[in-house]
Amino acid sequence: MSTIQVLKPKFHVDECLDQIRECLEQGWTGMGFKTVEFEDAWKKYTGHPHAYYINSDTVGLHLAVKILKMQNGWQDGDEIITTPITFISTPHSILYENLHATFADVDEYLCLDPVDVEKKINEKTRAVIFVGYGGRVGQLDKIIELCKKRNLKLILDAAHMAGTKVNGVCPGTWEGVDVTVYSYQAVKNLPTGDSGMICFANEENDKIARQLAWLGINKDTYARSNAGTYKWKYDVDYVGYKYNGNAVMAAIALVQLKYLDEENARRREIVKKYNDAFKDNKNIGIIGAPHADECSYHIYELTVPDREALLAELAKHDIYGGVHYRDNTEYSMYLYANGTCPYAHEVSQHLITLPLHMWLTDEDVEKVIKVVNDYLK
Ligand SMILES: Cc1ncc(COP(=O)(O)O)c(C=O)c1O
Repeated sequence: MSTIQVLKPKFHVDECLDQIRECLEQGWTGMGFKTVEFEDAWKKYTGHPHAYYINSDTVGLHLAVKILKMQNGWQDGDEIITTPITFISTPHSILYENLHATFADVDEYLCLDPVDVEKKINEKTRAVIFVGYGGRVGQLDKIIELCKKRNLKLILDAAHMAGTKVNGVCPGTWEGVDVTVYSYQAVKNLPTGDSGMICFANEENDKIARQLAWLGINKDTYARSNAGTYKWKYDVDYVGYKYNGNAVMAAIALVQLKYLDEENARRREIVKKYNDAFKDNKNIGIIGAPHADECSYHIYELTVPDREALLAELAKHDIYGGVHYRDNTEYSMYLYANGTCPYAHEVSQHLITLPLHMWLTDEDVEKVIKVVNDYLK
């Protein structure tokens, strides 16, 4: 019996190896070369005017918060509102910069609820970090309006959103989103090993991001070596970080990007099979998605009465589910906010993630459906 995992990346191995071989033969595996090629390919694919390749979404969120704080004169202790239904990188990026993470509740799509966000705004609020949960766009349009009305900056954590579109347009490019950060971590829709992209709407912020991610140095190594001579004379304007991406990861990303739309279409096909099979089961709650026909569907989740019991039942059949995510206000360091997002708290106790990836055959999907429906009938 073969195991059915909850998430499993599928690489186009020979093409990836060809791209990596080019890096090795050229003697260029660090920042530059394929990273520049991939930035250009990503800009073309998404429509973002700027894109800087970094080593993860986590560091991109940190850069986003840091640069907006620097550029807008925010003070330590100022607040950013985000969701408790996310990976811990999201609230941590606020704390890295000595700001306060305020949590607002989620809506039926498990994305930030604009009504609760508005209630959580006070005189210290400076920004919102919206997470496109499972690739969903949620009510991002309303959050954009709210941020404009209340003069707040907007960061989009698009870790799950590679390939999500609305009427053919990537929501991260919508006017009013100040910066969008993507993840190409090992199990994401566009998997590498670890890497990400930070896409500022504003050119100056993009420039600062490039410098801050490269230790504050004002010329990158690739640019310095381009003319054939390695120019050593540069200046250092900031205490920067080593957050840059590298050519080997970008080589993989370039290949995976070619297949992203096709693979997201297969994800939607699987989601439709699941949704059709579960919609009449009164023990199962399906999480909807606006613009479902263009959603990247990074993960597939349901709400069920007893999640632990279903996980155990699936495991008996060699099917492994998961949980995305625990309410972040249950973690020790965010306990101060526990109780502030009642819907998120309730729903997070019932969430279960079912297998969704490119290795699943239709028979695998049927098997998952049968085990779930038989157990919860
Ligand atoms: C919503 C969300 N934000 C941020 C991250 C962090 O991404 P990375 O692993 O690229 O740092 C993840 C990764 O799992 C995520 O799911």
